[in-house]
Amino acid sequence: MTTPSLLILPGDGIGPEVMAEVRKVIDWYGAKRGLAFDVTEDLVGGAAYDAHGVPLTDETMAKAQEVDAVLLGAVGGPQYDTLDFSVKPERGLLRLRKEMDLYANLRPAQCFDALADFSSLKRDVVAGLDIMIVRELTSGIYFGEPRGIIREGNERVGINTQRYTESQIARIARSAFELARKRNNKVCSMEKANVMESGILWRDVVTEIHDAEYPDVALSHMYADAGGMQLCRWPKQFDVIVTDNLFGDLLSDVAAMLTGSLGMLPSASLGAPMENGRPKAMYEPVHGSAPDIAGQGKANPIACILSFAMALRYSFDEGAEADRLEGAIETVLASGLRTADLMGPDGGTPASTTEMGDAVLAALNASL
Ligand code: IPM
Ligand code: MG
Repeated sequence: MTTPSLLILPGDGIGPEVMAEVRKVIDWYGAKRGLAFDVTEDLVGGAAYDAHGVPLTDETMAKAQEVDAVLLGAVGGPQYDTLDFSVKPERGLLRLRKEMDLYANLRPAQCFDALADFSSLKRDVVAGLDIMIVRELTSGIYFGEPRGIIREGNERVGINTQRYTESQIARIARSAFELARKRNNKVCSMEKANVMESGILWRDVVTEIHDAEYPDVALSHMYADAGGMQLCRWPKQFDVIVTDNLFGDLLSDVAAMLTGSLGMLPSASLGAPMENGRPKAMYEPVHGSAPDIAGQGKANPIACILSFAMALRYSFDEGAEADRLEGAIETVLASGLRTADLMGPDGGTPASTTEMGDAVLAALNASL
């Protein structure tokens, strides 16, 4: 077997700081578990714009297509807010998702026991929570045509288009059902079939795929607005939630708050299998670039480290090593170590970004 390759794109804001901690974890796996990776690093977002005038160069895009997995930190910052839309940092991220055709975005929301009192919801509502949001990532209103700002008479009109083909819905439905079979065998599909034709088609296709291929999985449907409400009322009713690009963006932020901190949440974006059988894949924390705390050693590296754990599980078939890494993080949290975002009801021991990363390495060592 050739050494698996990773392209690391730290990006902007806290991206480089949290990614530095992930690099330590990657090196640890090479040194201690015989799991070496061929790592290259490159620019994305504002960092790429500053160096090259675009948020992602064609060369970097080509590299992303070749590697076994991409790890991305975060993109964006206030200094880029006034840039033309076409070169905003976010366009780099959206280009990666679109050109690699990473249609299945897996966003787990898990509440670590040590953090159950940190959520804005009551402990019994969130303790033990373990749900998976499967967000469609390469179609829908984010990419539909026509789009733009046009003139109509003497005013401007902003236009975006929600568009889903049957095959786009079918493949994300299959991703959700496959995942559910490895979890608690339940899928809740969310759309707005009461007001949107794309929602009617979504519900139809998800139901067809279910009845024909996954009758053993329990399927339910919910309007996405009610789904947001139910996520806050009693999130433990859900196992896998499957939804479109925009609703998935919103609902995954809601789910994030259930777990206590956005600084805890990883994600995987997966596409079709490559020649070597591995899916096209990019892994990134759900949190953004947090420019207000960038460069101060305050950022929580856990979401980014957990994203690497997802890479171990979904790209490299190393489920047991992913469990080891998640277990190390659980140990560190249980010991009371807390980055700034986690300083809550129980006080805890303050830790910087690098101290948190070092503690994860120590827990990994202790796990051997
Ligand atoms: C996310 C983010 C992105 C999105 C932005 C940065 C383009 O909010 O990954 O959830 O809207 O998809
Ligand atoms: Mg979002």
